[in-house]
Amino acid sequence: MPRSHIRLLKSHEDFLACERIQKAVWGAPAASTELLNVTQKYGGVVLGAAVEGRIVGFLYAFLARRHRRLVHWSHMMAVEARYRDLGLGFRMKLAHRRLALKQGLSCICWTYDPLQSRNAFLNIGRLGARANEYAPDCYGPFPSRIEKGLPSDRFVVDWRISSAAVVRRLREGAPPPANLAMPRINTTRFDRRGFLEDRSMALTLSHPQLLVEIPANTDVMRAKAWELARRWRAETRRIFQHYFAAGYQVEDFIPPGRTTDGRCFYVLRRLRGPQPRGRV
Ligand SMILES: CC(C)(COP(=O)(O)OP(=O)(O)OC[C@H]1O[C@@H](n2cnc3c(N)ncnc32)[C@H](O)[C@@H]1OP(=O)(O)O)[C@@H](O)C(=O)NCCC(=O)NCCS
Repeated sequence: MPRSHIRLLKSHEDFLACERIQKAVWGAPAASTELLNVTQKYGGVVLGAAVEGRIVGFLYAFLARRHRRLVHWSHMMAVEARYRDLGLGFRMKLAHRRLALKQGLSCICWTYDPLQSRNAFLNIGRLGARANEYAPDCYGPFPSRIEKGLPSDRFVVDWRISSAAVVRRLREGAPPPANLAMPRINTTRFDRRGFLEDRSMALTLSHPQLLVEIPANTDVMRAKAWELARRWRAETRRIFQHYFAAGYQVEDFIPPGRTTDGRCFYVLRRLRGPQPRGRV
């Protein structure tokens, strides 16, 4: 890995680099240089990941209110494709956490696509964030190379940055893969093309912990088997909406690896019985 560091972005050139990365990753810049500039000055955070002095990733968060308290809303984080999986995303999140703690905040929130397993592992498995809110088609139709025309469903993630659970997760790292013998909400198989598909899903379970399997290669599926990707969107929407309403929370993520046969799973834990939702 070449020399890299994480720093606050401040100059016009820095913000232009963020626009460039947005174009490369999503296809169009949604946070302009003006917006990034004013956010950095007045209560938000814009961080960059520099490799050999060149900005190759950024994180953009503004001050927001959720459940009646001030939080940082981390609206965007992206790393250029060839610099991914080198830990830059993780390090930007850690730098953001340090800054937010200094500002007296205890929670950072953001949204992510629950079918993106890399994001799931980073957010839930590595950072210890939790999700119990599902936003169907969160942003409406928007031009995104990643979405490829699917509804923009998202988990809303709470990262309680001063909680004992998060401190422990950051100190100890993701635990060894959990027990895959836990009851499964969906059973799956690989189709003739080698893509994962659901065979069945159960919406009547009430065990303390449950597994939900997702594909490990959503981007390839969206490019080569779009109809199947659309089905995954619809089926996982039903699953998560049902179990969140029934009092479950996404508690962990088991990444694809040797012990899981290349498969990956969310771990849901029941916190309470069903409750009316919609708290802001
Ligand atoms: C999300 C994103 C910012 C992460 O940045 P990154 O620098 O690659 O992140 P990191 O390297 O710190 O962490 C990625 C982790 O996922 C793991 N990973 C890679 N592929 C994976 C997969 N298919 N499934 C699960 N985990 C995977 C990596 O091994 C790494 O874990 P490790 O550090 O334990 O090895 C980057 O992938 C990105 O720009 N994605 C497109 C834009 C986006 O989705 N942004 C987030 C929403 S705004």
